[in-house]
Order: sequence, then structure tokens, then C-alpha cells
Amino acid sequence: MTRKRVFSGIQPSGDIHIGNYMGALRNWVAMQDDYETVYCVVDLHALTLPQVPSALAEARLRTAKILLAAGIDPKRSLVYLQSQVPQHAELSWILGTLASMGHLGRMTQYKEKLDKGGQNLGLFSYPVLMAADILVHRVHAVPVGNDQTQHLEFTRDLVDRFNSRYGDYFPMPEQITPGLGARVMSLKEPTSKMSKSDPDGSSRILVTDDADTIRRKVRRAVTDSEARVAYDVERKPGISNLLDILAVFTGNTVEELADRHAGSGYGQLKETVAEAVATGLAPVREAYLGLGDGEVQGLMDEGAAEAGERAERTMVEVRRLIGLSN
Ligand code: AMP
Ligand code: TRP
Repeated sequence: MTRKRVFSGIQPSGDIHIGNYMGALRNWVAMQDDYETVYCVVDLHALTLPQVPSALAEARLRTAKILLAAGIDPKRSLVYLQSQVPQHAELSWILGTLASMGHLGRMTQYKEKLDKGGQNLGLFSYPVLMAADILVHRVHAVPVGNDQTQHLEFTRDLVDRFNSRYGDYFPMPEQITPGLGARVMSLKEPTSKMSKSDPDGSSRILVTDDADTIRRKVRRAVTDSEARVAYDVERKPGISNLLDILAVFTGNTVEELADRHAGSGYGQLKETVAEAVATGLAPVREAYLGLGDGEVQGLMDEGAAEAGERAERTMVEVRRLIGLSN
């Protein structure tokens, strides 16, 4: 039986936090058992915000290292750096000629970044490149957090446009979002999502943080003044976020955990959360520290060679379908 194919990407634009881990990475790891998996460090996407060249070079390798440390196994998954496979950019150009500018202008992520002072064509066409990532591998599904739903809808719209103009070629990709952890909130402002770009580093726990750092960040997490542990996202976003995190790292449901901690103070709940997260991330951190740069770059080169062959097979067909081959 042929397995369904999935693709997902992560930007090397900052350090990987437990939002990325809970919303995306841990599911990517689990999916290796049942799907043909392709994972990518999307360094071309990172260029849509200003980057220091030496820092970007370092960040993309570090991000690749985290994927490997978290359990992405290059023997079972295709894993590589986006810019090493130029077919992504070629397909992006072609899809851009089908893209609706009105639709692109309505993307929340675009509007947020504009508000923060970003202004360039790449930021506007970011979802077109994302669609190209997905379509160049002709995958059936894309595991991502909730914040990518609009981009996935845009990709599906492009598939409709391409297929109706040139014949059914691309499969329609489905979004796969985890039941728990699809939207992890900032520790400092629990009504906003945990984000790589938040200037306050204590708003997020990094997957490479040591146990002391994790304890310190969790202790300082914003809660509320009620001093009553209960799961209520509207009224108690800070406590509910801590319960979500604890649920993912212990495998219990939030209801079980809320019941179990109903009589505890916030301090005690925070200690429990910090221990669970530190214990859960310890193997990732250890694996991360054990990986050498040269080794990771070598694995990425091998991944890119294989990804390039597969992507080229798609592009041969695409060029033929649209009239760019004789
Ligand atoms: P990014 O950090 O934008 O490169 O996102 C990489 C992956 O992590 C995507 O699948 C996102 O949907 C997911 N992700 C990012 N932030 C969060 C968050 N706060 N909660 C859950 N998933 C997230
Ligand atoms: N846009 C995604 C994010 O910000 C990253 C990404 C780029 C991606 N290309 C992708 C995710 C393709 C899934 C599939 O998180």
C-alpha cells in the first residue's frame, strides 16, 4: 500500500519554542510511522524579514539540528533546507501568476507583519512560496498549527485554479492540526500566541532551554488573581495555557489535570508544569548538544539531493502542462 505523503516547513527565523514543538514538531515525528514525510527548513521564507547573513546561516543549521534532535529521522523522512532546492522558487513564480492579490492582501500574518513595519513583495507573496513548497512534492496533507489555516486555504485555492486551467495534476492538500497544542500562548501575554518574534524572551520556552531556565520562565508566567486552578480559556487564559502544556507533556487530558490540581496553588501547578516540560525536553536538548554542524550539513546536503530529484520530476510535468517545454 502506498502511504500518504505529508510536507511541512519551519522558518529559521529564531529559536524553536514549545509552541512549535506542541503545534508542529512532535506531530511531525509521530507521523513518520504512518506517512511518507517531507520536512523542510524554509530559509527563503525567513528572508521576508530583515536577516543578518551570518546569523541566518547559523540559524538554518541550528533549526535543522533541532528537527533531528526532536526525532526527525533522515532514514525515514526527507529533510532538507528549502533554498538548496531551487524548484521551490521556480514553482512559486508559476503559481504567482495564478494567485489572487485580493486574497493575499487578506492574510492575517501579512497584515500583522505590515503593522510591525515589514514592507516587501516577498512578505506579500509569502503564501505563494508556501504553496509551492507543498505542491512541488504533490503531498496529500500538511501538519501545522492553527495559525497556518488561512495559508492552507490559499494553497487549496491555487490548486483549484491550476487544476482547472491545466488539468487535474495537484492533489488537494488537507490540513492536519493537533487536537491539543495547536495554539500555545505566550507566557507573558496569554491572549497572544507564543511567537519567535516576541522581543520578550521570557514569553517562550525554547526546546533547547535547560531545566533551570524552564523553571524560571514558568514561575514568571502571567496567570490571574483568582488563585483557583480551572480550565477556562476565556476567563483564565494563563492557567489554561499551563494546563494545555502540562497535558501535552504528560499525556493526560486537561480535564483530568484541572481536577487533580483543583486544590493546589498556582505556585505548585507551575512547579509541576516546569518539571514535566524539563523532563520531556531533556532528551531533545541532549541530542541537540551531541550533534555536530558538519554532520548536520552533510545530512541536509543528502536530503536536498533527493528532494531536488523529486521536485524536478514535478517540474518536468508542470513545465509540460503549462507550455514551457517542447
Ligand atoms: P513558524 O514558527 O512560523 O516557522 O512555525 C512553524 C510551525 O509551528 C507551524 O506549523 C506553526 O503553525 C507552528 N506554531 C508556531 N507557533 C505556534 C504556537 N504558538 N502554537 C502552536 N503552533 C505553533
Ligand atoms: N508558513 C509556515 C509558518 O510560518 C512555514 C511554512 C513554509 C510551511 N512553507 C510551508 C508550513 C509549507 C507548512 C507547509 O509556520
